[in-house]
Amino acid sequence: MLTVQELNQEFGNSEIRFYTDSHGMACAELNNPMGKAKIALHGAHLMSFIPKDQEAVLWMSEKSYFEAEKPIRGGIPICWPWFGGHPCDSNMPSHGFARLFTWEPVASGNCDNEATFLELALTPSLIADKLRTNDFLVKLRVEVNDKLSAALIIDNTSDKDLSYSAALHSYFNISDIAKIKISGLDGKAFIDTLDDTRHVQQGDITFAAETDLVYLDTEDTCVIDDPGFKRKIKISKFGSRSTVVWNPWDAKAQRMPDFGNNEYHKMVCVETTNAKADARTLAPGECHNLQVIIESETEG
Ligand code: BG6
Repeated sequence: MLTVQELNQEFGNSEIRFYTDSHGMACAELNNPMGKAKIALHGAHLMSFIPKDQEAVLWMSEKSYFEAEKPIRGGIPICWPWFGGHPCDSNMPSHGFARLFTWEPVASGNCDNEATFLELALTPSLIADKLRTNDFLVKLRVEVNDKLSAALIIDNTSDKDLSYSAALHSYFNISDIAKIKISGLDGKAFIDTLDDTRHVQQGDITFAAETDLVYLDTEDTCVIDDPGFKRKIKISKFGSRSTVVWNPWDAKAQRMPDFGNNEYHKMVCVETTNAKADARTLAPGECHNLQVIIESETEG
């Protein structure tokens, strides 16, 4: 792994700076005139997105771990190559291994639309031996201007099929979970993971208890309407036909060591996923993009 100084020489420019944060983690700051983002190389973990003159769009827990082989709580964890529990081995880590290891920067610069971009890659050589299976090349391409785009590009570089589920497990910063509503999923079928029952969404989603829902067969954009922060966060996606909506509420928050007891008031997850029947199998040489585009519109 290159030092922060070497990363700055190879991938830094006037809008991208690598640094070591207060936890000793190597991070990159993307400073576009229209918006700023911070990414930890650990997990290629987007920890912050702040459009110009706005509140932070992503939520981070004050109790998060920032340690090797532990996930960061908040921002956008990358869940890959499985979402939730491992399909057949309960000893494997929740939500896959991509969020547990340090990714390598591979490209940076400016796009035609003047967004600042950084690409990070994960290959089998960067993860623990016990977790290695297929060969793969997974990249996260982050683009920042007034919007944030995160694209997980999965390339099956092996000579056998690569099956996986995945999520861009986005945590959003909200004024009050009891006052927001989420539109975009009206009429969609969902599985309530808390009791494994199936339902159909009626109208907007509101919150009054623990919520853990997997929406099926949906490519639609969701909007978080937050009257307290006077803004709407628009979450558009590509390469995804499932969406997960999660808030742990109080009891589950208390059981999670890396989540503050009262923090559930201030966050909601709307996750761009390939989950359940939307899990994917790539033949050798095949590639798939799972992309989320996040935009915040303020009133007035
Ligand atoms: C959500 C799941 O996506 O992630 C929840 O639907 C889970 O069931 C949550 O509790 C957090 O998972 P983790 O592994 O980051 O604690």
